[in-house]
Amino acid sequence: MSTPLSATALRHISRLCPGRWERWYAAAKLRSDPVYAAVTKELQGSSLPVLDIGCGIGLLACYLRESGFAPAIAGFDYDPQKISCAQSMAARSGYEGLSYMTGDARSGLPDFSGHVVILDILQFFTPEEQAALLRAAASRVAQGGKLIIRSGLRDDSLRFRITVAGDWLARLTFWMKGAPVSYPDRALFESVLSAAGLRVRLQPLWGGTPFNNHLVVAERE
Ligand SMILES: C[S@@+](CC[C@H](N)C(=O)[O-])C[C@H]1O[C@@H](n2cnc3c(N)ncnc32)[C@H](O)[C@@H]1O
Repeated sequence: MSTPLSATALRHISRLCPGRWERWYAAAKLRSDPVYAAVTKELQGSSLPVLDIGCGIGLLACYLRESGFAPAIAGFDYDPQKISCAQSMAARSGYEGLSYMTGDARSGLPDFSGHVVILDILQFFTPEEQAALLRAAASRVAQGGKLIIRSGLRDDSLRFRITVAGDWLARLTFWMKGAPVSYPDRALFESVLSAAGLRVRLQPLWGGTPFNNHLVVAERE
């Protein structure tokens, strides 16, 4: 499995989108955001399935398939329009083993065992909801599996202030259903995930972006 993907593979994914706006969004996001290649690198070689919480239009699943990752991938998101877009992309793609369901992660997660991915949704949760989601996600990580999270980290950097502004812009343009509520800090991940029996590491994942994004990888050894 090679990563990152070629421009041709990225174009192929964005052309799966049913609408012009989603096509434009997918092309820009896939070109600029280092997270899909970073998650692919963490998962490569594994045969465990993946649960993608807050999957949006399913870009991660498409990226993984184009990278040669074959295990089942289930996407979960509370926005029915995004789930419908993800389903339509999966149908047009011919990729096998992709499934999507609508649901609110604050009310519980589907039964699952494997790798769990949470990209860019924790800021929509209160601190209590964040801790509850991390515990629920950690309980679904199989032996040898990983919980992989991308989140903006709360600190006093300029990057953090730009992250907050970016999330508000997404809300004001109606791309996001929710406005940001609270941003987690490093201590939250370390305390909650260590208590759940996972070995935790955090690293900056800035790429070419101005955001204070970090990749959190918590493994069950
Ligand atoms: C910034 S987008 C990230 C999409 C996707 N993870 C990606 O990186 O391509 C955040 C996603 O989280 C979803 N989301 C926010 N709150 C949620 C909740 N309580 N339950 C399920 N999904 C949620 C939104 O609908 C949106 O699709």
